[in-house]
Amino acid sequence: MYHSKILGLGKYVPENVVTNEDLSKLMTTNDEWIQERTGIKERRHIKKGDGNSTAEMGFKAAKQAIERSEIDKKDIDLIVFATLSPDYYFPGCGVQIQEKLGIDTCPALDVRNQCSGFVYGISVADQFIKTGMYKNVLVIGSENHSGGLDMTDRSRHVSVIFGDGAGAAVLSRSNDDSKILSTHLHSEGKFIDELSLRGPSTEYWVPEIIADNPQEDIPYYPKMNGQLVFKNAIVRFSEVINEGLQHNNLTKEDIDMFIPHQANLRISQYIQQKFQLKDEQVYNNIQKYGNTTAASIPIALTEAWEDGLIQRGDLVVLAAFGSGFTWGSVIIRW
Ligand code: ACO
Repeated sequence: MYHSKILGLGKYVPENVVTNEDLSKLMTTNDEWIQERTGIKERRHIKKGDGNSTAEMGFKAAKQAIERSEIDKKDIDLIVFATLSPDYYFPGCGVQIQEKLGIDTCPALDVRNQCSGFVYGISVADQFIKTGMYKNVLVIGSENHSGGLDMTDRSRHVSVIFGDGAGAAVLSRSNDDSKILSTHLHSEGKFIDELSLRGPSTEYWVPEIIADNPQEDIPYYPKMNGQLVFKNAIVRFSEVINEGLQHNNLTKEDIDMFIPHQANLRISQYIQQKFQLKDEQVYNNIQKYGNTTAASIPIALTEAWEDGLIQRGDLVVLAAFGSGFTWGSVIIRW
């Protein structure tokens, strides 16, 4: 059986910085509340006219990842694009990025697993490489949250959390000990409505939404039961990290770098404490980018690698939890 490894990483965030203070001009909130509950100081939002979109940011991150991997873009066998905020209702961002990259034909697959999207995407890529079907797979996580948030008091517990950005990785067949050891995926659909955005959809089409829904329950803005999400996140994060470690006969003492989905700094800190990891063994950047959903792990992984915090031979653990609920982990020997 073949194995895959991460050959190149890239990221892109819009230039426009939105501080907690900026948000307090749009809704009743303040820096102290946001930092205390989430750790977030600022996030990036696309600015109208700056040319960015989910596909465009994904393209910029992908371009960097491909350049760093030193493969020819023509050798990419599959594109996997994870997002909950696509540019089009259909087709997905995968084909958009294929066109932007100038790749004539190759399969392009969109993954709809929200905060776990990148972990699911890595798992899909890893399986295709393991079977020998493909050699090089481009995995992208990108989100344009700011285009769809309710910037009023009605949704203030949701809208202060999310930011825009993209990250990407090129996975290639490995010829040495550096490889993805395993991936572990889960979902539990009974919590579908606890963190969701219902329309526009075939069930909630635009005119019906406007006609049928009272102001306090607008289905085209994200809804979140924050406390239930928090409680489930800390349980599932722990379970799926342990599952990955046990699968590889490893223990928490073997972890060199843990990169959690940047949901909320308090969730990351809880997991860090539970696994008794030192500050230098956990990478967080939610303070400056907010929660960028499918983009958060590849942005954090890229930054940790750029800062020299991940070295050859390190055991790197990625884990995510989010809407669905869905969750998963990736165990990597770097
Ligand atoms: N600014 C100021 N006050 C606010 C804000 C805000 N932005 N939002 C809510 N409040 C107020 C509420 O109105 C409420 O006031 P009240 O007590 O007078 O009624 C009070 O703050 C507490 O509100 P809660 O919604 O209960 O706040 P909570 O303490 O649960 O914190 C939060 C909200 C931060 C969302 C928390 O539940 C949480 O972190 N949950 C985890 C969810 C998460 O991380 N989601 C990320 C996306 S999903 C994912 O990536 C996994």
